[in-house]
Order: sequence, then structure tokens, then C-alpha cells
Amino acid sequence: VVLPSPPPTLYPSFYANRPKDILPHLKYPKGFLFGLATAAYQVEGATKNEGKGPNMWDWASRQPNAIVDNSTADITDLQYFLYKEDVARVAALGVTAHSLSISWARIFPFGTADSPVNQEGLDHYADVIKYHRESGVEPIVTLFHWDMPLALQAYYGGFTSGQIVDDFVNYAKTVFSAYNGTVKTWFTFNEPRVFCSQVASYPFNITYAPGVNTSTAPYQCSYNLIKAHAGAVKAFREMNIVGEIAFKSDDFVGTPWRKNTTDDAAAVERHAAFQIGVFADPVYVSGDWPKILTDTLPPDYLPRFTKQEKKDILGSADFFAIDAYRSQYISAPAEGLDACLSNGPSDPEWPQCNDIQEFDSNAMWAVGASADTGAPWLQDTSRFLRSAMKQIHKRWPTNKIYVTEIGFAQPLEGQRTELYRIKEDTDRTNYIMSYLGELLLSIHEDKIPIMGAFIWSMVDNAEWGQGLSTRFGIQYVNYTSLERTYKRSAMELSEFFEAHLHN
Ligand code: NOJ
Repeated sequence: VVLPSPPPTLYPSFYANRPKDILPHLKYPKGFLFGLATAAYQVEGATKNEGKGPNMWDWASRQPNAIVDNSTADITDLQYFLYKEDVARVAALGVTAHSLSISWARIFPFGTADSPVNQEGLDHYADVIKYHRESGVEPIVTLFHWDMPLALQAYYGGFTSGQIVDDFVNYAKTVFSAYNGTVKTWFTFNEPRVFCSQVASYPFNITYAPGVNTSTAPYQCSYNLIKAHAGAVKAFREMNIVGEIAFKSDDFVGTPWRKNTTDDAAAVERHAAFQIGVFADPVYVSGDWPKILTDTLPPDYLPRFTKQEKKDILGSADFFAIDAYRSQYISAPAEGLDACLSNGPSDPEWPQCNDIQEFDSNAMWAVGASADTGAPWLQDTSRFLRSAMKQIHKRWPTNKIYVTEIGFAQPLEGQRTELYRIKEDTDRTNYIMSYLGELLLSIHEDKIPIMGAFIWSMVDNAEWGQGLSTRFGIQYVNYTSLERTYKRSAMELSEFFEAHLHN
């Protein structure tokens, strides 16, 4: 099969391969959050400390070959104990916010609403939040970043069961009342689409309870997860919790590959409906699934919401949050094209590459293939960012957008072993500068209300199935000594913050 060659870029990137700041006159708006992001499982370690229960990833990472380097996250960065050092190091860079997550199994070791609360866990995060505030780093809290208490998987199959809704809402209420007034910005769920289409069944479908139908599971999961989200937000509002709440979307709105072909425009719509739209349409637009989904999938696949549920779901977010790592061209399948250019979600019922062709993919998502072939790692897709932001703002209108994650993976250990090259991370630096520069232009030229940007990640950490071998940090972590070292990206970011923050 001969693949058509990619089209020229839409927008020249202002920063790519140009480490020097060329937009010095543009500032981010007052109150803009310059943040770094992490997640409990990926950085905390201390898996068995202070009353924490096991979560599904503690279990999965113990299955042979489930994680590429057979590592667990039992220690990883040990941020559970080293948070003061970590916060101090990033406060010194001028970072104004840290998006972190709470480990559900530290608060409810058994997960369920009728099981005991672990006071040590609650006290721990109270200290963490307090220390952030004292250091001038705003703590932003995600309730669920994929690390579900293992007991819930064993009891009823986790998010494939409706029982999860009450258990999650109960956990959310406990956390809200514990930290009310000390956290201003909350997220219920991190990247629900990735979780339901891949993580809940990852690695290798081993985490589904026996008897769970793996082809309907992603949809059951999406259905229960949206209800859990809406239930938590309802509680947040009824409890008069101070602050704002949303969930973190992932994926991207694509750009039609061939301009003026209705086929490609339709492929973009289909992509949006099956990806961000699965969660964003109900929450921001209609209270219900995108029409393409209900037209395509029968109710025993994709359960339908009741009238009351629709009411609760619609409007259950105070702003829009997007993990905006990548964006791509999308086209309808070309005749005879039978190869996948990028790996889609692992569930076969989720649209696959013979439905939609995505071009110019951010190669992190083809990580396995890249590791084998030595193909380039990440591409700078920042040139799509402005058009993506415009589309997001139009499709799911809110008066505030946070770009909750952007980031760049370093090759697997072994491909690029020299330490100085890992720390002298020019590619990551360029990637980050390109994105932040495009965001400045989005704000100033396109008038998009972007009020925060978060870089994944504060430190190298456990990258799910890739284990410790894939590094996203702006700080290098020596996993033996746990010493942190600023990479070049951290230093340049610090200068960039200083230059562009509104005083
Ligand atoms: C998004 C996820 O939220 C985070 O957990 C992950 O490490 C990064 N993407 C990089 O893959």
C-alpha cells in the first residue's frame, strides 16, 4: 500500500527548533496558572504505607510482562514522602500550580462507601495541600487518575458495574468535605476515554472480572463513569464546596486532511463524536450521547440515560479542561488503505483505523513500534493547537479553558542512554515552547479564554504500561538514589514563566 504523502503544515510553529523566545511582548492573562502535572500512582510510591489499600495498577504491575520493563510503581519517585522537596524545587522555578491526584485506595482502602475511611490518608493529603499553599503553588486536585481500589474490581468489576457510582460519589464527598476551602480547582476524572477504552482493560484485559463482556465494557464504563462524574458534581454543588470542578478531556479535534472534501469533514465529526465527544457532548452540550453513537450502537451496547440523569449530566462542569498533547489530520479511509498509521484504542468496537485515518500522529501513541524501529519519538504538533482550541471553544463552549496536560516523552532507556542527552532535552524544550507560544497566540489573536497550562510532568515517573522506561519529566529522576535534576526544559520553562506571566 502506498500511503499518500502528508500535506504541508497549516500553521508554522513559532517556536519549534527556536529555543529563543520570539514573543516577548505577549503576556498570559492575570491569574493564569503555570503548572506542572502528576498523578498519584505515577509519582507517589509508598504503595503499602500508612494504610493504603492496593489498586488495580499495583496488581496489574505484578503480572509478568504486563509492564514493558517489569517495573512496579512501589517506589517510583517516592513523592508520598518527598513532596516537600518536590514542591520546593518547582516553587523555585516560578511554577504557580501543581495538578496532582488523590489515591482513592489511600482514603478508602476497600473502596466501598460502607468500608472504613483511612484517616492517615486523609491527613496526608491535608498536609500536602497545606504545604503547596504555603509555598505559593496552587494545588489542583483530581479525584480519579485511573488507580481504582482493587477491591472494587474484585467485588463487582469496577466501572463496568453501576455500583461504582455510589462508591465514587461517597469517596468524592469525603474528599470535598476534608479539603473544602483549601483547593480551588477540582477534577473528577482524568481522561475518561482513555480509561474506559484502554486502561480499564489494560494491560492485556487482565483486569476485567470474569464474565465481563469485553466488547461492551468500554461503553458500560463510559455510562457509569459519566453518572459518577455528574453525581460528584451534584454533591459538590449541594455541599457548597468553594471552587470549580470539571473533568479532564483527552484526545483532540482533528483537522480535515483534504480541505473541501465532505468525506474528511465527516471523518472529523465522527472522530470527535467517538473520542472527546463521548464525554464532552453530554456534559457541555446535550446531557446525552452524541447522536452518531446512539445511531450506531444499540442500548445493550451503549446504555441510554434517563431524563433525570440527562438533567444531572448537562452542565456538570464549570470550565473545559483538555489534555492537548497532540492534534492530527484526519481523513476518511482512502481506497485500499489497510495499514494503521496510529494505534487506536484497544477495544475493537471503538472506531479503528479502517474507519478513520489519522495522520501526523504524535508518536508517543505508537510507542511500541517506535521502540522497535527507532523511528522518531514525538512530533511537534503545536501548529494544530490554535485551530484545535478554536474548535473546542466552539463545540463545547465555556468561559474558561485549562490545558491540563502537554508533554513530551523521552525515548526508552537504552536508545538514548547518555545522561547528558537526557538532561539536555532540546526536543522536549522545543515542544513545550512551541505549545506555550501557540497558546499565547490563541489567547491574544483568537481570543480563546485559556487560563492555565500544565506540563506533564514535574518529574520522570511511572508511565503506566511503559513503566519507568519512558521519561516525561522536566526533572530527571535517578531511580536508585531518587535524586532529582532539572533538565534544560525546566530551566527554559522557568525563564519563560518569568517573561510571560502577568505581574
Ligand atoms: C496523560 C495521562 O493523564 C498521564 O497519566 C500520562 O502519563 C500522560 N498522558 C503521558 O502519557
